[in-house]
Amino acid sequence: MDPELRQAAKDHLIRYGGDTFPTLFRSASGTTVRDDEGREILDFTSGQMCATIGHNHPAIVRAIEESCRTAIHLFSGMIPETVVKLAVKLADWAPQPLTKSLLVSTGSESNEAALRIAKLATGGYEVVGLGGSWHGTTGASAAASYASDRKGYGPKVPGNYVIPEPNAYRCPIEHCRDTCDMTCLKVGLRMFDMASDGKPAAIIAEPIISAGGVLVPPPGYFTALRRAADERGMLLIYDEAQTAFGRLGAKSAAELSGVAPDIMAVSKTLGGGLPLAATLTSPEIEEKAHKAGFTYYTSHVSDPLPAAVGLAVLETIESERLVERAREMGAYLRRGLEDLQQKYEVIGNVRGEGLLLGVELVKDRESRVPYHALGAATTARCFELGLSMNIRRRPERGSVWRIAPPLTVKKEELDRGLEILDQSLRWGLDQMAAKK
Ligand SMILES: Cc1ncc(COP(=O)(O)O)c(C=O)c1O
Repeated sequence: MDPELRQAAKDHLIRYGGDTFPTLFRSASGTTVRDDEGREILDFTSGQMCATIGHNHPAIVRAIEESCRTAIHLFSGMIPETVVKLAVKLADWAPQPLTKSLLVSTGSESNEAALRIAKLATGGYEVVGLGGSWHGTTGASAAASYASDRKGYGPKVPGNYVIPEPNAYRCPIEHCRDTCDMTCLKVGLRMFDMASDGKPAAIIAEPIISAGGVLVPPPGYFTALRRAADERGMLLIYDEAQTAFGRLGAKSAAELSGVAPDIMAVSKTLGGGLPLAATLTSPEIEEKAHKAGFTYYTSHVSDPLPAAVGLAVLETIESERLVERAREMGAYLRRGLEDLQQKYEVIGNVRGEGLLLGVELVKDRESRVPYHALGAATTARCFELGLSMNIRRRPERGSVWRIAPPLTVKKEELDRGLEILDQSLRWGLDQMAAKK
């Protein structure tokens, strides 16, 4: 541990939101990260949800090395061979008819591009987003996001509307309890129709509202959303930053729901830890957008190195059968979490799909008052005991752990994580009792 470097972190880094851990970090491999004290910590967040095939997978290292021998970056008008190969692979993974893709760097960008395409293809500009959603930090993506604080940055892009998110455990319109009957959607759309200037362009949704508390919409929700978009001449955009490429135990959330969007934005899980994202659409929509003058010309559009890594990630998911593995390991982890729920009254709800799971902490199961203090204390204790966990804490949405280890996670690692969680909950509840 280098105390000067730790001090330098305080002196020279701008704080960008969220809690940072007290130590600095040195290396990562598989499901483990190592800090500057040499401690090994289990990573149940897959980095920032990106280390789909584990940290520093040899296939990623090989792809980077190969790119260093061939090409890292090119003029944006030169299409690298790897980019074409990745586009072909993406067409194979995406639902029909989304066979065309644009390769960019971040999730925010993939949604910017999706919204630009939707606006040009429809001639409209109005965008409907879901409460609790997170599509990014750049202009149009941020304007359609409602999970984090929007205050202080001035007016957002006009034409953005929010509808209440489907949250059966904590219904935003206080209508349902445990089973969402989609009144939230009906009411939200009615409000939008009243407010609309008559220039609708897109409905954008995360198939599982992740930062908003790992909310899984009820069966039939996406069929209803599809219909809502079609009836209004809007395009349906899925932001599959966290849900595509196996994490849910399916190729994508689109596959799982059986409802294809018009545009799909993918990012985090595709790059395996490198900045890589893509916007996918059909040839018909691409043609309309192109004719209307679509541009998305950036420094790193179609860069060869990240494309080579994305290809390696998808090939590894296929060769290591990680979609099936996510299903199997996800079911195993879920059973472990449900066992903990039997033991602890404060675990109000366990939800999610595959290896994207949410655990909501409440003071008691009847009132469902969020237990933020326990969430904070227990998450810190998990870290001390060697487990990195992400907790989403918002007054209106509860205290929810998002648990999403790499798809390559081993059973023993899940067991160890569950054991630490158990110990931390016991410890946290003792602390809370002592404070009373
Ligand atoms: C669903 C979703 N979409 C988009 C983004 C934005 O991605 P990025 O941070 O790469 O811009 C995020 C980031 O957390 C996300 O969770």
